[in-house]
Amino acid sequence: MARTKELECVKYEIDDEGIAWVTFNRPEKRNAMNPKLHFNMQAVIAELETDDDAKVLVITGAGDAWSSGMDLREYFRDTENDPAARFKAQWAHRHWTQFLATSQKATIAMVNGYCFGGAFCSLAACDIVITAEDATFGLSEVNWGILPGGNVSKVFADLANHRNAMFYAMTGRTFDGAKAVEMGIATLAVPADDLRDEVVSIARELMEKAPMVLAYTKQA
Ligand code: ACO
Repeated sequence: MARTKELECVKYEIDDEGIAWVTFNRPEKRNAMNPKLHFNMQAVIAELETDDDAKVLVITGAGDAWSSGMDLREYFRDTENDPAARFKAQWAHRHWTQFLATSQKATIAMVNGYCFGGAFCSLAACDIVITAEDATFGLSEVNWGILPGGNVSKVFADLANHRNAMFYAMTGRTFDGAKAVEMGIATLAVPADDLRDEVVSIARELMEKAPMVLAYTKQA
């Protein structure tokens, strides 16, 4: 039977088929990643890894955003003079994304809308990225007078290529889902209305494979 759990900034549902729908749940802030969201994700990803009912993990966002990146106020401004708090938040983000990247289970990012800045690190941790054609991606840091710090520049350049990374980091221009596929950031772009069905269909295909073979394929 389907199971759900709701934390402060993240919720999940494991449906009857075995798809674990993990949702960044701050729609009113376009799912900006504050420290609490990172702590919640740490707990959720660890929990699902050892939950046999969760066979494929889908990471998505509530409302019209996947994630608008790091929370400019709660992640950056509020921790400006509190290095311990900044470290804890940073470490939690690195930890859950690394955990996700090395998960034994197949993981799919379902990009339903905005994806900015630090959200690319979360995106890069997923095996497969299915995006709505009209989703909006961008490295907007330059517009706020900051650089795409942490791992963002590296992750973006690894996913796309040097020329694309340089252009989008320097201009702060946005691009859509089709362009994200063209650049290698996303696997597939589909009309927004078909997004969930496409993800379910891919998840079902993955669940037909031997789980250990998928896990070894990921390691290889
Ligand atoms: N950090 C903190 N709050 C945010 C963020 C963010 N990254 N993104 C959105 N919000 C908040 C807004 O402040 C606003 O809060 P309020 O209602 O209390 O005023 C609320 O979310 C809604 O935002 P709007 O801008 O009104 O929503 P809109 O749909 O018009 O635009 C968009 C969405 C394009 C995502 C816009 O909010 C935006 O550009 N956000 C910043 C994206 C960004 O630059 N991310 C990179 C951050 S730096 C990094 O990740 C390393």
